[in-house]
Amino acid sequence: MNNSGPSPKISGLIIGGSGLIGGFLLHYFKTKTPEIDVRAPNSKKLSLRELNDIIGYFKRHKPDFVINSAITAIRSDALLSYEVNYLGSINLARAALALNIPYIHISSAATLPPGENLTEEDRLPLNASLPNYAKSKLMTEMTLRQMHEKHGLQYTLIRMAIVYGAHDHKIQGINRLLYNMVDRAMPFMLTKKKGVLHSYSNASKVPYFIHYILKNREKFSGQHYHFVDPEPVDLARLILTIKDYMNLKTPRELYIPYPVAKAGNNFMNWVIKAFNRIGYKAHMPAEMIFLENFYKTQTLSCEKLKKSGFVDPNPQATIFTELPSLIEYYIARWEHLNLFSSFSRKDFNVSHAMKQKAGPAEEVAEIFMHSPTKLLDTMYNDGIAPLKDIM
Ligand SMILES: NC(=O)c1ccc[n+]([C@@H]2O[C@H](COP(=O)([O-])OP(=O)(O)OC[C@H]3O[C@@H](n4cnc5c(N)ncnc54)[C@H](OP(=O)(O)O)[C@@H]3O)[C@@H](O)[C@H]2O)c1
Repeated sequence: MNNSGPSPKISGLIIGGSGLIGGFLLHYFKTKTPEIDVRAPNSKKLSLRELNDIIGYFKRHKPDFVINSAITAIRSDALLSYEVNYLGSINLARAALALNIPYIHISSAATLPPGENLTEEDRLPLNASLPNYAKSKLMTEMTLRQMHEKHGLQYTLIRMAIVYGAHDHKIQGINRLLYNMVDRAMPFMLTKKKGVLHSYSNASKVPYFIHYILKNREKFSGQHYHFVDPEPVDLARLILTIKDYMNLKTPRELYIPYPVAKAGNNFMNWVIKAFNRIGYKAHMPAEMIFLENFYKTQTLSCEKLKKSGFVDPNPQATIFTELPSLIEYYIARWEHLNLFSSFSRKDFNVSHAMKQKAGPAEEVAEIFMHSPTKLLDTMYNDGIAPLKDIM
């Protein structure tokens, strides 16, 4: 063997690479770790619902580690939640066990009760009445621990709280809050005036932690970690900061008590059901099943993370420092996708940072809307020849 040649690359498998967290992971490993080669087959190529997909992939590619950041939509029914979130995760872990490779699993604070400074050992009691999402995540946490104790599975579990970051294709969590505020669908404050604290997780930092875990696999094997920013965030303060930044008139500072919010929520559910019966399709945002969380503190301790030796790549970054760029990113995205029903940039007294200058992209959009033939002519003249850079 020629020892002077380059050392073979480590190969990794990411499940959920098109998702919010998986997208950050994929980008990180593709751009920052030349020694690691990752593949991220989509769910059509490797579905967690198909055991044969997992077996086939592992036999063909024999990865050196697996990261599972896949999840089915939060409102999925019992069967899909069970098959993707639970059984799929366990089958993936069994495949990792067969090759004796590390399995990194992304979990959620949905497995935790409300409370302050919750530790990695805390969790909800398993109960039939839990929402499908929380139940499937909790069962996975419990089974992975069993697999570690019984079969020596090398796994590390990372619990995320409220995740923030760009490139989320769904409108959920903090993005739902932002969307509703901008689209004027939140007339009053759905929380308490002060003291409802939550933990937040920065999606862009997770890959750094996972890379660190992979470099220290022995130390992290069989361990659970909370991956959250050190400082919890007061929900009312966050809402008012967004309102202020965007010069919004609503939500007005009238704090709706929980029983009233719950009654309103039940009423809306009833109205929506009635509309659905006569052929209008509508549904409540999926997070409304977690309405209680707007009124209850849930903060996760990050003591274990601090002691793990992991160095935060950007300790200054918090939800507040990232808000301006997130707001700009998501508003532009939702505008492009025509998702707003009442927001219009023109009517808004948006802050200086949000004012959009008409650049070349806006000009092209104008021509596309009003003179498509002109656009075609321009393209025919100089936009359809073979690409010189490739030739
Ligand atoms: N986002 C949050 O606020 C949040 C908060 C706490 C914890 N978490 C945890 O973080 C993890 C990632 O969440 P996320 O928000 O990044 O998810 P996401 O954006 O909804 O992405 C879901 C991913 O799962 C994949 N997927 C769905 N069904 C699949 C199947 N049958 N087989 C294989 N892949 C499948 C999708 O792939 P395709 O597109 O190819 O179908 C997609 O890449 C989850 O474990 C979640 O519980 C998220």
